[in-house]
Amino acid sequence: MAVPDALDQYLKDHAGEFEDQLCQLLRIASVSTDPQYAPQVRQAAKWLVEHFEQLGLEAQLHETPGHPIVVARGPHVPGAPTVLVYGHYDVQPPDPLEEWISPPFEPTRRNGNLYARGATDDKGQMFTHIKAAEAWLRTTGSLPVNLIFLIEGEEEVGSQHLEPFVQQHRRELNCDCVVISDMCQFGPGQPAITYGLRGIAYYELVLRGPKQDLHSGTFGGAVTNPANVLVQLLASLVDEHGKVRVPEFYKDVRPISEKERTRLASLPFSEEEFYQQLGVTGGSGEQGFTVLERRWARPSFDINGLTAGYQGQGAKTVLPAVASAKFSFRLVPDQDPEAITAKLEQYLRSQLPPGVQMELKSYHGARAVLVDEDHPYVKAAAEAIARAFGTPPVFIREGGSVPIVLTFQEQFQVPVLLLGWGQNDDNTHSPNEKFSLADFHRGIRASAYLLDEIARTGG
Ligand code: BES
Ligand code: MN
Ligand code: MN
Repeated sequence: MAVPDALDQYLKDHAGEFEDQLCQLLRIASVSTDPQYAPQVRQAAKWLVEHFEQLGLEAQLHETPGHPIVVARGPHVPGAPTVLVYGHYDVQPPDPLEEWISPPFEPTRRNGNLYARGATDDKGQMFTHIKAAEAWLRTTGSLPVNLIFLIEGEEEVGSQHLEPFVQQHRRELNCDCVVISDMCQFGPGQPAITYGLRGIAYYELVLRGPKQDLHSGTFGGAVTNPANVLVQLLASLVDEHGKVRVPEFYKDVRPISEKERTRLASLPFSEEEFYQQLGVTGGSGEQGFTVLERRWARPSFDINGLTAGYQGQGAKTVLPAVASAKFSFRLVPDQDPEAITAKLEQYLRSQLPPGVQMELKSYHGARAVLVDEDHPYVKAAAEAIARAFGTPPVFIREGGSVPIVLTFQEQFQVPVLLLGWGQNDDNTHSPNEKFSLADFHRGIRASAYLLDEIARTGG
């Protein structure tokens, strides 16, 4: 079945309504990491279940020990392939609040963009697939493929409960391919298909010294200051060439092939412009690699949060009793987060001076993934994107992580299509997150065409 003209007309006629519906979902502050927001997280899950039901899909809210998982299913289409669309309805905390031009949970249209926490990551991108399904159902009464939506509420905290859920429900969720829109295009006007994501290993390091804060004049110089030790330890994690110094950190790193290096170098990318857009005069990282290689295909280390001592107005001469930091490594194939945790802990302990105690908490770990680039469904996706965006996609990797992708690959052994509709300047995880409304509507069209392309490719 070809895409009917009525479908394109439906998308045009309902564009404003789609935006309004997305705004409803964006008004729900579904911040997964902060227990205070648990009621809103649940509310977002319920909103989705209701929305799916209004479209005539069979939808269920599954409880987990954490936040609920929403599964919805289109009508059965005998003989057609099964597509599983994954997305997440949880969002990152909105702070720093004072930096937002319009409040994070009051979606606002400005210069062709929709501003709100979750606009692009991932409510807006995920919603494109729901609206594509709606367009098929409302114009033809059916879908070209068997369609399953799996939308979780814990992606931003590591998808801890989704993994066992997928394993337990592998028969009901069994599919011929997975589609995920939770990443970026290569640039404005240049859509992309992503074939690689980095993994992550996230930690909190807590150093405890004297039993309480001390006068830094009376005690400084004799008592080990946990804040001093913290910065020494953190600084010891990277050397002057940008290499991580944890022993054996690079042991399993798969080198970037010459072929891939050439291909990445041929992407239209200016390092200068890249830095300029971020408001910096230059950057740093692992020596011997380009910016794209360092962001996509090489591991990295970043401090994500740092706390110790007096943070208020003015000065206070204190020797703090506690110092802590949150930090993470981005990983590439074939690094193993657990092996890295063990080596990291050993390395840090080996440098600990007397007078402080160390606790290393390990948060989420996820391995990096590479997905099939040659599967016929990838060609189907490229075709759909070219039609909707007017430009064929380029093939890229990305530096962010979507922890569940590896589980999909392992459980279903099927291609995973990573089709980002976002832009790198969408301010994900930061103030004034936005999603271009043009990208939103192109994403919906691409998704609608994709279902048709996949159906025609067959199972
Ligand atoms: N959508 C992002 C992942 C992403 C961002 C992929 C940019 C490609 C490009 C996702 O919501 C995310 O933020 N993931 C976390 C995972 C972590 C909390 C386990 C990340 O990458 O920090
Ligand atoms: Mn996301
Ligand atoms: Mn995110």
